[in-house]
Amino acid sequence: MIRVVPGTKDILPSESWQWQGVEQVCAKVARRYGFHEIRTPIFEETELFARGIGETTDIVGKEMYTFSDKGGDSVTLRPEMTAPVARAVIQHSLIEESTTLKVWYSGPMFRYERPQKGRYRQFHQFGAELLGSANPVADAEIIAFGYSILRALDLTQFELHLNTLGNTASREKFRHELVAFLTPHKDGLTQTSQNRLLTNPLRILDSKAEQDKEILKNAPRLSDCLDDESTAFYEQVKELLTIQNIPFIENQSLVRGLDYYSHTAFEFITDKLGSQNALGGGGRYDGLLSMLGAKNAIPGIGFGLGIERLLLLLGEEAKAAGEEQKPDIYLIGLDKVCRNECIRLAAELRSEDFCAVIDVQNRSFKAQMREANKLGATLVIIIGEGEMQTQTCSVKVMATGEQISVANIDIPHKLRSIMLANMPIPQ
Ligand code: HAM
Repeated sequence: MIRVVPGTKDILPSESWQWQGVEQVCAKVARRYGFHEIRTPIFEETELFARGIGETTDIVGKEMYTFSDKGGDSVTLRPEMTAPVARAVIQHSLIEESTTLKVWYSGPMFRYERPQKGRYRQFHQFGAELLGSANPVADAEIIAFGYSILRALDLTQFELHLNTLGNTASREKFRHELVAFLTPHKDGLTQTSQNRLLTNPLRILDSKAEQDKEILKNAPRLSDCLDDESTAFYEQVKELLTIQNIPFIENQSLVRGLDYYSHTAFEFITDKLGSQNALGGGGRYDGLLSMLGAKNAIPGIGFGLGIERLLLLLGEEAKAAGEEQKPDIYLIGLDKVCRNECIRLAAELRSEDFCAVIDVQNRSFKAQMREANKLGATLVIIIGEGEMQTQTCSVKVMATGEQISVANIDIPHKLRSIMLANMPIPQ
């Protein structure tokens, strides 16, 4: 049997409604914040990610799905969306047309990671980018946008972790001090951290290994290296979150795995999903667009949420986004003529926007009733010889078992009022 590739998943009809629910909530919140959708290709020139995300990051170093196409060009399945959005902004001069750009996206991303619960090789992100503003108001908007999605999904078991990586000068000062501190302790660090000492020392702060944590206890702190500009920026972001009643936890070891960040870095963390504890994250990337060839420096800030992880947490919290689609009406005809009448009536009901389902296998009355039950139809219409003669149909309300006769001419109107009367009262 041919099965899905490890780390990828089918989203089956029994679960796709939940996906749609999450995506709809995200799009609805995006509208509240005045963001518009952008769709970019699934694959890009490899150089975009190598340059944009950073050669020394795990994503570029180990996790990219890169291949040569038949023309010999190196292309990569997108591992994230910030670099493609930045590329699109430069290519289409989007910032020159207006002063800021506010976009959202939703779709599959690809990273060759070791699959486990909450970590996949094809996964899905909903994300947003706000370009063109170097003002902390933009940071607060983006964080509030991400936070509002989690709250609109009714999720509660998460925390917002916040940090600042400062401006370039502060970060360089800190990098220098950190390397000077860690170098004499090098042999006590894990192999991964020893490698990072040479390539990407800030990422060592992120280490979960006890031996690294022990050494890091006395390490210099990024907050001690921040200059006035960086401190003032961070203070404003915190103030703007506070006035919106968005709770956050300051976490100095939050450095994020992508190279493009400066100033604000944040993650939405949960302790309900084991080691894959980040529901989403983001930050400011003021240098990215220049690095990708923009004529003017264009600042930006954004976030990405992992849809699979949102769904896992919804499950943990025994909540669901959206509603499983159930038929409004299941139509049963008792003989061939009646079945044809069911087909005619179903077409009429569908044109009135009802979800109307008919048997497509010529099964017995009992089997059709069983299916109507299994599908959770609200109403069942039964048409037999008697109903054909009187130009009526029998309508059974499944929740109560009540059965009534409705004249054909009244059907759409009457069914709508029966359905309304039998709708569950919203909680
Ligand atoms: P990221 O932290 O690499 O950031 O990914 C964002 C979120 O995507 C993670 O917090 C996680 O929920 C989800 N995610 C990442 N990798 C996987 C995986 N292998 N399986 C399942 N879920 C995963 C970014 O991608 C940045 N582009 C975010 C950003 C936007 N920064 C600024 N703008």
